[in-house]
Amino acid sequence: MKKVLVAGATGYLGRYAVQEFKNRGYQVRALVRNPEKFTKPGPYFAPVIDNLVDEVVFADATKPETLAGICDGVDVVFSSLGMIKPDFVHTVFDVDYQGNMNILAEALKSGVKKFVYVSVYDAHRMMNIPNVQAHEKFVKELQAAKIESVIIRPNGYYSEIGQFVARARRGFMFWIGDGFVRSNPIHGADLAEVCADAVDGDAKEVEVGGPEVFTYYEMVDLACEIAGTKPVMLPLPFWLADGLVAAVGIFNKEVHDVALFATTLSKMDIVSPRYGTRRLRDFFNECRALVD
Ligand SMILES: NC(=O)c1ccc[n+]([C@@H]2O[C@H](COP(=O)([O-])OP(=O)(O)OC[C@H]3O[C@@H](n4cnc5c(N)ncnc54)[C@H](OP(=O)(O)O)[C@@H]3O)[C@@H](O)[C@H]2O)c1
Repeated sequence: MKKVLVAGATGYLGRYAVQEFKNRGYQVRALVRNPEKFTKPGPYFAPVIDNLVDEVVFADATKPETLAGICDGVDVVFSSLGMIKPDFVHTVFDVDYQGNMNILAEALKSGVKKFVYVSVYDAHRMMNIPNVQAHEKFVKELQAAKIESVIIRPNGYYSEIGQFVARARRGFMFWIGDGFVRSNPIHGADLAEVCADAVDGDAKEVEVGGPEVFTYYEMVDLACEIAGTKPVMLPLPFWLADGLVAAVGIFNKEVHDVALFATTLSKMDIVSPRYGTRRLRDFFNECRALVD
């Protein structure tokens, strides 16, 4: 039986990855930073993992001394470890780059056979964003290391738009630009299948998105239909959004970088190879229960 280390196991994708690997008969060791999150469900219906894992190691990837031996006996490392929102303590380079480098060092020491890492789709079009730079800095190191690796390049996750139904019910929706940019977000469970498939596949990089393509406006519209409301719609012109991002940058770099991610994404179609069966309508319907 193969053993996998899942880093980022309490995150939205990491929880589904734990579940998927377990369903496929792997022995699962979870790297968990926060013991409280280990026993609780994750964001947007992502599963509880304490009953799924075979072993848990409590460690902080930015502190290499806590990781000693974490990969002993492990065949595959899967990492969706990253910082998607600022914690105002670490930079994205501390976590997404150095944290994963620390895990890679352990994987090399223990002779792990394959390292599966989750970066982002179309990273080369977003290299102005520090979060993407940090991911790709690690990708370069991983691909140069003496270990078989695969980079998963997903589109946005359903968790990132899970707020839409609640916002529609609050009566106020806004977006940047005309709302006509297209993307195909993906459910964590569908993406976890792709990640687990990648372990046995030959691909070095896997680009993936969800089964349906929407404009931003269509996603907003669907959320309003499901919420049963007609909220005030407020499109924010690019010049205003860019100005606000620049102004925020004067006071706070972390918030600036997150806002820059949002404005960058709002200016380009991001449609990746389609995969999965879990539809956005069903996800939004589930989200309705969160606010009813
Ligand atoms: N969300 C998207 O739409 C999207 C799209 C494309 C790519 N990605 C990438 O996919 C990856 C996973 O995304 P996600 O949405 O699942 O993120 P998430 O829910 O925030 O999960 C990130 C995981 O990393 C863990 N982590 C962070 N810093 C750590 C540290 N120092 N030591 C140990 N664990 C640490 C978190 O632990 P805690 O639970 O303790 O915080 C959490 O389990 C990220 O790299 C992200 O950039 C995301």
